[in-house]
Amino acid sequence: MNNKPRKILVTSALPYANGPIHIGHLVEYIQTDIWVRFQKMRGHQCIYVCADDAHGTPIMLRARQEGIEPEQLIARVAKEHRADFAAFQVGFDNYHSTHSAENQWFSNTIYERNRDAGHIAKRTITQAYDPVEQMFLPDRFIKGTCPKCGAEDQYGDNCEVCGASYSPAELKNPVSAISGATPEQRESDHYFFKLADFENLLRTWTRGGHLQAEVANKLDEWFETGLQEWDISRDAPYFGFEIPDHPGKYFYVWLDAPIGYMASFKHLCDNTEGLEFDHFWAPDSDTELYHFIGKDIIYFHTLFWPAMLHGAGYRTPNAIFTHGFLTVDGAKMSKSRGTFIKARTYLDHLNPEYLRYYFAAKLGSGVDDIDLNLEDFTQRVNSDLVGKVVNIASRCAGFISKRFEGKLSEAILEQALFDDFAKAGEKIADHYEKREFSRAVREIMALADRANQYIDEMKPWVVAKQAGEEQTLQAICSMGINLFRVLIGYLRPILPATADAAEKFLQITPLTWDVLATPLKGHTIGKFKPLMTRVEPKQIESMLEHSKEDLTAQSAAETKPATDSALAKEPIGETIQFDDFAKLDLRIARIVKAEHVDGADKLLQLTLDLDGETRNVFAGIKSAYAPEDLQGKLTVMVANLAPRKMRFGVSEGMVLAAGPGGKDLFILNPDQGAQPGMRVK
Ligand code: MSP
Ligand code: ZN
Repeated sequence: MNNKPRKILVTSALPYANGPIHIGHLVEYIQTDIWVRFQKMRGHQCIYVCADDAHGTPIMLRARQEGIEPEQLIARVAKEHRADFAAFQVGFDNYHSTHSAENQWFSNTIYERNRDAGHIAKRTITQAYDPVEQMFLPDRFIKGTCPKCGAEDQYGDNCEVCGASYSPAELKNPVSAISGATPEQRESDHYFFKLADFENLLRTWTRGGHLQAEVANKLDEWFETGLQEWDISRDAPYFGFEIPDHPGKYFYVWLDAPIGYMASFKHLCDNTEGLEFDHFWAPDSDTELYHFIGKDIIYFHTLFWPAMLHGAGYRTPNAIFTHGFLTVDGAKMSKSRGTFIKARTYLDHLNPEYLRYYFAAKLGSGVDDIDLNLEDFTQRVNSDLVGKVVNIASRCAGFISKRFEGKLSEAILEQALFDDFAKAGEKIADHYEKREFSRAVREIMALADRANQYIDEMKPWVVAKQAGEEQTLQAICSMGINLFRVLIGYLRPILPATADAAEKFLQITPLTWDVLATPLKGHTIGKFKPLMTRVEPKQIESMLEHSKEDLTAQSAAETKPATDSALAKEPIGETIQFDDFAKLDLRIARIVKAEHVDGADKLLQLTLDLDGETRNVFAGIKSAYAPEDLQGKLTVMVANLAPRKMRFGVSEGMVLAAGPGGKDLFILNPDQGAQPGMRVK
């Protein structure tokens, strides 16, 4: 069954050190942790490392805002992150920081080796500069009016209303989001990683079975657009590592972030007898390396990272495992709905193992988003974990302790049933191995049903009342306990704390996969205590309420940067003639579908019906409407606007909105008398 032990190094993406862990992050850390715990149970050497991603402009500015040094900020956040992960049973073998000596050494080394091999270029670029703060501004710290559609308060690189991409220099009325000053254009020398040097390697690597098919296909699109040089330097002031021999220039946070995987592992090696860094990272290594990431950071991990590693003479990963994003009740996590739930807020209300179980029950090996439906969550935890699994033990344990001093029978009453449970182990293991956790859970719950059925049929509570049936009673209950033990073993990667408690009750050492096929005979177990309680809907309500409260507390504490250009009075523009106006073909349209757009903060994608003709339109109205508010309703659209290609697809028209923006944005038309396709006069 178990082949020779493997040596596996696993990572999750490094969370940014300027914010708390939330339940979206936890999809990833729980997914990775389950996989790692599974490998360990199988007897493999599996090492799980992570770290805080501590560098970059947002962290520098956040510290400044709080009036502390970045080092103080990252130390505080690291403590919070560690506590949150520990509470969710995420069992890192090492948790480090990218702001560490090891990381500086590896970053320098990887940079220098690539530079010496000719993979670094120097160029002068022109960039927005904040004269008040005396710093260059990253695109996301410049705001202004979209040069294409005139929408205000847009980020420096693309407009979320019309989807246009542009350079920050094209923004109208640009302002620094930090000081509110008008940025100047200044020149500066930057260093670039020549990604195109690695095109052949990357084409082969990305098709070499290291990526999920969906991800490899995405990469083909990127190859088609061409591999651009990557700007890996930033000017002072910056919180990061200074580039060797270039004072005042710093490595861009994304250069040293993945190197943090190596740094964390190195730190572990330095504290662990017999663990050799080179053994895992040399180009000819016989060990396995896997990175778990979310779909938003594919580019960094599948192109830059293998190229940088290769360029510096290190091994490349065996695979990148990408997962999708978490939605809550079908929508992106929302601060106003209270579904932007911090790990800490969750922990104040609910048992972390519930969430681990629910995510496992939903996770497959693909990159699809996963939805936390809170009603389904309550129902599944209560019926599967409390109602099925824990129930098996509670139905049998009482008799064993009261009538047999905790002793299980010497014989197995239903060997065939037990064998079925044992045999299922390989199939379940296969699902875990392939990250098909939802399938593993389904198999395990089917077994739990069978165990309960068995107890239903054997009716130990009836046998208990019959004279002279002592031995049968002990055998039935022992059988139940043995089935329970196997189930807990299979669930152990998902429910480590519950498994721990169950092992204490069973008085056994931590379960491994191999021992599960051998039942307990004549063994003495301890007193049963309920291992888990039901989720009560009021706990969920309270958690959502507190998530809203978190938000109010937080926004009161934060000083808002002076970017509220939307509030500034704007002069009325150039006049147009009636003929110009008459060109607009305004039509009533029915919103047949409204959906979120991956990666867009402000957009919804609408499918509009104009009496038989269907249009796809992107509208910047997410701040005001949830998709479910729109479906089936009527709106007014500009039907003859030329289609335009946006970042997320082609938009075939525009819906009209009134209101100052934010939550107050109105696009719906009353239903009375209006029909799709009707012309608006
Ligand atoms: N610091 C970078 C990663 C550097 S790795 C060398 C980063 N940090 S993050 O805090 O924004 O995200 C950490 C991980 O959590 C990423 O893999 C990201 O995809 C994942 N998630 C963050 N929000 C998520 C959801 N809402 N849903 C699922 N995963 C999410 O990116
Ligand atoms: Zn625009």
